[in-house]
Amino acid sequence: MPDLVAHGVLAGLDEISGTGRDQRAGGYSRHLWQSAELDLRAWFTERAERLGLAVETDRNGNIWAWWGAPGRDAVVVGSHLDSVPGGGAYDGPLGVVSALDAVARLQAAGVVPTRPCAVLVFAEEEGSRFGVACLGSRLLSGAIDADKARGLTDRGGITFAEAAVTAGLDPAHLGRDQEALDRIGIFLELHVEQGRGLIDLAEPLAVASSILAHGRWRLSFTGQGNHAGATLMTDRRDPMVAAAHAIVAVQQAALDSPGARATVGRIEAVPGGTNVIPSAVHAWLDARAETDGQARAVVADITARLDSPHAGCAATVTEESWTGTVTFDPELAARLALALGGIPALPTGAGHDAGVLAARVPTAMLFVRNPTGISHSPEEFATLEDCLAGVEALDTLLRELL
Ligand code: GLV
Ligand code: MN
Ligand code: MN
Repeated sequence: MPDLVAHGVLAGLDEISGTGRDQRAGGYSRHLWQSAELDLRAWFTERAERLGLAVETDRNGNIWAWWGAPGRDAVVVGSHLDSVPGGGAYDGPLGVVSALDAVARLQAAGVVPTRPCAVLVFAEEEGSRFGVACLGSRLLSGAIDADKARGLTDRGGITFAEAAVTAGLDPAHLGRDQEALDRIGIFLELHVEQGRGLIDLAEPLAVASSILAHGRWRLSFTGQGNHAGATLMTDRRDPMVAAAHAIVAVQQAALDSPGARATVGRIEAVPGGTNVIPSAVHAWLDARAETDGQARAVVADITARLDSPHAGCAATVTEESWTGTVTFDPELAARLALALGGIPALPTGAGHDAGVLAARVPTAMLFVRNPTGISHSPEEFATLEDCLAGVEALDTLLRELL
């Protein structure tokens, strides 16, 4: 990102550009409490402390950097530093570095906040390690049961509770944090757009209007593990074939429900050998739609299509997480849009911690144009000019709010 460094405004993105690179997938793999993500936590702490902010990790692993004394009715600005496997450089970090930059600008301009202010980094926004997206904000706000969170496991079988211990947290204290919630007077998240809305509008920035209803389900298929060479094709109960048929059904169910989206982005064969017919296959479904009812109907349709799975196998569908449609406070969105010169409002299909917090505290989002619309990919991008427009917008909003 030579442009960013040369400009010196979003140097933060450049400082972390070598952290968590994924040589196999391309892009970045920065997963909760693993080495790259721990390095990013240390980087954030150092960066915030250089601005004189007081950094603390809450009991759910979210990091708060306070400008001035912590307190109630705070203006809180932030996003996340973790990534999907092979993710881009902007999803999450752009919001964090922009928030730090905005604070630095205000300090340089001699602004003294009249109310508490914090930069917040949420833990496990992508759910890439423990399977549930926005885990830090769900725990903080009580949107997930703490026992359920404690029992989540990563791909190596480590529970969230065990990982929390290694990160220095007390698993008994995970869960709704009323004191932290009560401090948030308003939460603002700046994020790279993850679609083509701003390209179509030919605008660099928008406020968020809504988020699609979305959830994750595990589709599990069981059959008969057996020998790939010795088992006749007609004698098999192969769950991989059942999963393949199901994946085609997932696509069809979404196509049959205009506007809905359904994806299988991860599949796991058990035991997973080239010369082994699997005994089980797990496939993870991500389904989204405009309304809760539509998203639920798509999943019901997929479930019905799995009623008699192919090849004499058995299929089960297990819900792993769910977030209903989020409508951001329209008055707040309109007020912020006006303060920024009348920027447009856009819906999004991507989930965000702001969407989780919106149920509890006044919350708004700012999107920065993504010139290809591509996200969750190494190709994700935003121009320097648009990133600067985002920082300037945060600067303007913080001046208005503080
Ligand atoms: C997060 O980016 C999601 O939408 O899953
Ligand atoms: Mn993301
Ligand atoms: Mn994100």
